[in-house]
Amino acid sequence: MVASKAVLQVFSRASPCVYSYDRGIYSSNSVLSPKSNVICIKNKGIGYTKWHNGLQNRLSVYGFRCGEPGDGDSHGKTSGNRLKFFICKCRGVESTGGLTADDGRRTSLPVNGKSSVPRSQDFEFTQQSKNENGGFASNDKSEASGAIIDTIDKAYSTSIEEEAWDLLRASMVYYCGNPIGTIAANDLSSSTILNYDQVFIRDFIPSGIAFLLKGEYDIVRNFILHTLQLQSWEKTMDCYSPGQGLMPASFKVRTVPLDGDDSATEDVLDPDFGEAAIGRVAPVDSGLWWIILLRAYGKCSGDLSVQERVDVQTGIKMILKLCLADGFDMFPTLLVTDGSCMIDRRMGIHGHPLEIQALFYSALLCGREMLAQEDGSADLMRALNNRLVALSFHIREYYWIDMKKLNEIYRYKTEEYSYDAVNKFNIYPDQIPPWLVQFMPDRGGYLIGNLQPAHMEFRFFSLGNLWSIVSCLATLDQSHAILDLIEAKWAELVADMPFKICYPALEGQEWRIITGSDPKNTPWSYHNGGSWPTLLWQLTVACIKMNRPEIAEKAVKLAERRISGDKWPEYYDTKQGRFIGKQSRLFQTWSIAGYLVAKLLLANPNAAKILVNEEDSELVNTFSSMISANPRRNRGRKVLKRSFIV
Ligand code: GLC
Repeated sequence: MVASKAVLQVFSRASPCVYSYDRGIYSSNSVLSPKSNVICIKNKGIGYTKWHNGLQNRLSVYGFRCGEPGDGDSHGKTSGNRLKFFICKCRGVESTGGLTADDGRRTSLPVNGKSSVPRSQDFEFTQQSKNENGGFASNDKSEASGAIIDTIDKAYSTSIEEEAWDLLRASMVYYCGNPIGTIAANDLSSSTILNYDQVFIRDFIPSGIAFLLKGEYDIVRNFILHTLQLQSWEKTMDCYSPGQGLMPASFKVRTVPLDGDDSATEDVLDPDFGEAAIGRVAPVDSGLWWIILLRAYGKCSGDLSVQERVDVQTGIKMILKLCLADGFDMFPTLLVTDGSCMIDRRMGIHGHPLEIQALFYSALLCGREMLAQEDGSADLMRALNNRLVALSFHIREYYWIDMKKLNEIYRYKTEEYSYDAVNKFNIYPDQIPPWLVQFMPDRGGYLIGNLQPAHMEFRFFSLGNLWSIVSCLATLDQSHAILDLIEAKWAELVADMPFKICYPALEGQEWRIITGSDPKNTPWSYHNGGSWPTLLWQLTVACIKMNRPEIAEKAVKLAERRISGDKWPEYYDTKQGRFIGKQSRLFQTWSIAGYLVAKLLLANPNAAKILVNEEDSELVNTFSSMISANPRRNRGRKVLKRSFIV
C-alpha cells in the first residue's frame, strides 16, 4: 500500500486522499416483528448477555428453542421438524476467530464524493505529457518509459484493489458481534434505500468468495449457517406458503430494544422470501447459490465439518427436493416465474431461463458431491443423477445455437405431429430476429435464454452462458464457442464496461409488452441490456476454466479505467456502457467484490477450482448414448422412456 501510494503521488496530479470513516453496521430501532427469526441479545454498550426474562417469556409464547449454529444438529435430529424461530446465544466479538467488528467497520472512503483512487485517465495524461515533453524520445528511453508505465499500471491497479478491500469490509454486517454478510450497497448519497441495506444471498456470493480467497473463512461460515436457519422459516404471502427449502432473497439484521429492559437490545434476523420484494418475486437462485458457496467453502478452507453437519445435510436435501419435486413439467429444466434470479423483475424470462438451469445443474453436482451416502438418501441420489443427465442433454441439444443450427432453424418444417419430430418445439423460422443474423459470428455460438413451445428466446444472457461453462452444463466445444463469441462480439457485449447482462435490449413495442413499460428497464439500462461490473467474476472463472484468462484480463483492465472513479456503480447504461446507470446505486458491494474475485483469481488461477465443476465421465457416456438416440437420428419412442441411472 505504501509503495503504491508513493508511486501514485509522484505520477498523478490527483493525490490519493484517505480518511477514516465509520459507517457502522446496519442497525434499526424498528420494533421486533412477529416474523423475525433468529435472535440474540446484547447489553447496550457492554457486549452480550445471557437470556433475559422478557425474551424467555416470548420464547414460551412462540414455543421454540434451538442451539446456536455451532451446535451442529439444530436442523435435523434435535429440532426434529425444524423450528419456526431460532435463538442464538451470543458470543462476544472476542470469541470469533476472525475479524472484529471494529476491524471491519473502519475504512477509507471517498471524501466529498471523490474517490481516493485517481482515475486511469490521469495516468494516461501523465504518460502522454511525458512523451510530449520529449522526456523519453530514444528507444532506450521508451523502454524506460514502458517500464515506468508498467509500474504505474501495477500501482494503480493495486491501489484500486486496496480501496475495494476497504469498501468491502465497510459493507460487512454483524450479528451478535460476528460478521455474517455484506449489505447490497453502501450508498449514502441515495435518497431511496429500498432493500439495498439488506444482505442478499446472491449478492453475497462474490463477497464470500473474495473472503475465502483471502483466507477469511468466518464470515462465510456464519453466513452459511445463519441463512440455513432462515430456510426453515414459515413464509407466507396472502395465506399461501411456498415450499419448504426455499432460501430467502435477502435478510436484514435489526437491533431492537429488548422488551422491558432499556439497557439491553437484541439482534434479530429478518428474512425476505420475496413477500416484501418489489413484484413479489420468488428467489429461486438463492438456494442454488447457497449450495455452490457451501462447496466452495469446504474446498477452500478444508473444513468439511460444516457440510457434514446434520442440519446442513438436511438443508441441502431440502433445497434439492424442492427443485426436483414433480409438477406438470414436460422438460427437465426448472420451471420458474419471471424475476426469479439476478434479473429480479419482469423481463420476459419466465419459463425455463438459462441462468436458473445453469445454477440448478451446478447445485445438483455440488450437492451430489457433498451429500453423505446413506440408505435414506438413495432415492434422492437416483432422482438427482437422472435429472443431471436429462438436463445436460436438453440444454446441450435444444438451447445451443450457432451458424449451423441457425441455418437448420431457418429451414425448419413446422406442425410436425410425431415422436420423431425434428422441430420438436414447433419453432416458426420467422422468429429468427434480424439482429441475430448480424450478431451470430461465423465462429462461435451460445445457449439461448429460454425455450418454450413455439418460442426460442434468442437474447444472449451472460450469466447463464458463463455459468454453463463453469458448471460443465455446456460441452467443452460449446464452452470454447461461447468464449469465441464473446471475443468476436466484444464491442456489443463489453464495449466500455464489462459486462452486458443480456443482449440486445428490448425496445419499442416489445419493451412495452414484455416489461410492462418498466421505466427502470428502458433499453440499454439495468436488466434490459445494462452493463454489470459484478459479472466480471463469473467471466473470470469461465475464462480460467477454459484456459483463456487473457479474455478476462482484458475485461478487468477495461473496468479498472473507470470503476473506482465512478464509485463502483451497480450498473452502466447505454449500448456502449458509457454512462453510470440512471438509477444505479453507488458503492454496490457485488461490483466491488466481483472485481476483487476477478483480480484474486487471475493472480492465482488454480483457486478457481473451488467454483468449477468438472465433466463427469459417467454422465458423458450416458449423454452420448442419448445423443445417438436423438430423433434427428431416428430415435424411437421406447428410448425416450428409458430412465438413466448413473
Ligand atoms: C437488483 C438486482 C438483483 C440484486 C439486487 C441487490 O434488484 O437485480 O439481482 O440482488 O439488486 O443488489
